[in-house]
Amino acid sequence: MSSLPTNADRVSRRTLLKRAARVAGAAGVGAGVPLIAMSAAAPVTTRMDITQFAKNASRLAKFEAAVKEMQGRSKADPNDPKGWLINAKMHADFCVAASTDPKQIHFCWWFLSWHRAYITVTERKIREISGDATFAYPYWNWSSDRRIPAAYAKAGSSLSNAIRSTPSRPVSDGEVSFVPSDPVLKKLGVAALGVKMFEAKAPSEIPRSFGGIARPNSANRYGNNALEGTPHGPIHNYVGGDMSDFETAGRDPIFFAHHGNLDRLWENWRRDVARKGTEPAKNDAFMTHKFVFTWLDGTPMEIAAADTLDTKKLGYVYDTLEVFRPGVQPLVVAAQGAEDRLPPVATEKLRVPLAPQAAGAGERRILEITDVEKPERPITVGVYLKAADAPASDPGVNVGTFAAVKAGGEVAWPNQTLSFDITAAAQRFAGKELTVQLVPLRIEAQGAGAYPPLKYGQMRIVTEK
Ligand code: C2O
Repeated sequence: MSSLPTNADRVSRRTLLKRAARVAGAAGVGAGVPLIAMSAAAPVTTRMDITQFAKNASRLAKFEAAVKEMQGRSKADPNDPKGWLINAKMHADFCVAASTDPKQIHFCWWFLSWHRAYITVTERKIREISGDATFAYPYWNWSSDRRIPAAYAKAGSSLSNAIRSTPSRPVSDGEVSFVPSDPVLKKLGVAALGVKMFEAKAPSEIPRSFGGIARPNSANRYGNNALEGTPHGPIHNYVGGDMSDFETAGRDPIFFAHHGNLDRLWENWRRDVARKGTEPAKNDAFMTHKFVFTWLDGTPMEIAAADTLDTKKLGYVYDTLEVFRPGVQPLVVAAQGAEDRLPPVATEKLRVPLAPQAAGAGERRILEITDVEKPERPITVGVYLKAADAPASDPGVNVGTFAAVKAGGEVAWPNQTLSFDITAAAQRFAGKELTVQLVPLRIEAQGAGAYPPLKYGQMRIVTEK
């Protein structure tokens, strides 16, 4: 059959172009207009789980058509300001820099705020182009849906129009930081939600902080905050292809659905006033910092970090803040058994200290792996614990996962300390020796020979009050 556009296609395309032109020329939009001013004029919309969003076929069709329109524009002209590629480039511009570069928005306290603003700008563009005034970018709840949701995977859809190399297996528990072997972490659903502080005051605190360390900071050291570490990194690697490199990740429509879920978990975390109180809301360096994006007419659009601390001001709320979709039992998707596991990239024996008699109820045991050097290739690694005298066939229990993701073809990896809450395992192994194994869950070009051993400072068990 012919691939010429049908008459209906042409009409709707023309309508879309006109609408986009109107938006670009509309008074009050573009030319450095803050995103917040645009949001104040619009009603608050609800970001939905994609499985719910997709139940309304015409809503989904408008979303698909708008993304298709943007993708088509980029195909004709990669620099079209209304195109999808230019939108993706906004991410590339801030992520390919060195981890110590002032522009870099990963590995520091801009991570949550910047991505929140980025999703919102993208959402606004789609709203304008689609003509659906209630459009809000639907998120992917990977805790409940362990495969790419149908709407983002459907062949021929603009929402699956990206390079991917997703494995045929579902996302495992470790990759979404679900730790069913520890009752406290199991209840949280995502281990990072157990973290108590937003801001890391020292580099060693970064992996146990929810928001990361200040940029710049006097130590000039950066790293993944708890959520940014996992599930953030492993989901990028799971989808693979464009998503496995920050430079291209914004080209995959699922990027905004993935980050939408992370953004939703930020809202979950800060429901607790004590935790929310640790956000740098009184720190001028944080609050007055401005992020700059571009609008549909190519003019800059800015937003202050201060304005990312209230989603309603940005014009949206989430349908639910629960980790697992209400009414859905948490899945337990273990990683592969011992037989088909890749050889570990590190193995170490550690003695677990005896629990002090008067240990506080809130006290947690943390496994720290210090000064981990940049892995050679992208990789997602599971952390497994077992008794030192357990047989080799015993895979042990997964207590955490971390990932090394690319940015501009190279692994992006500030020299960093990793930390994993191993409280339940530490109770079980108190006073005994155990084996820690770091096992690859996913590597680029899987099967292409052994992965070189991971280099790091030391592994140790510390207590956190
Ligand atoms: Cu800016 Cu998930 O990457």
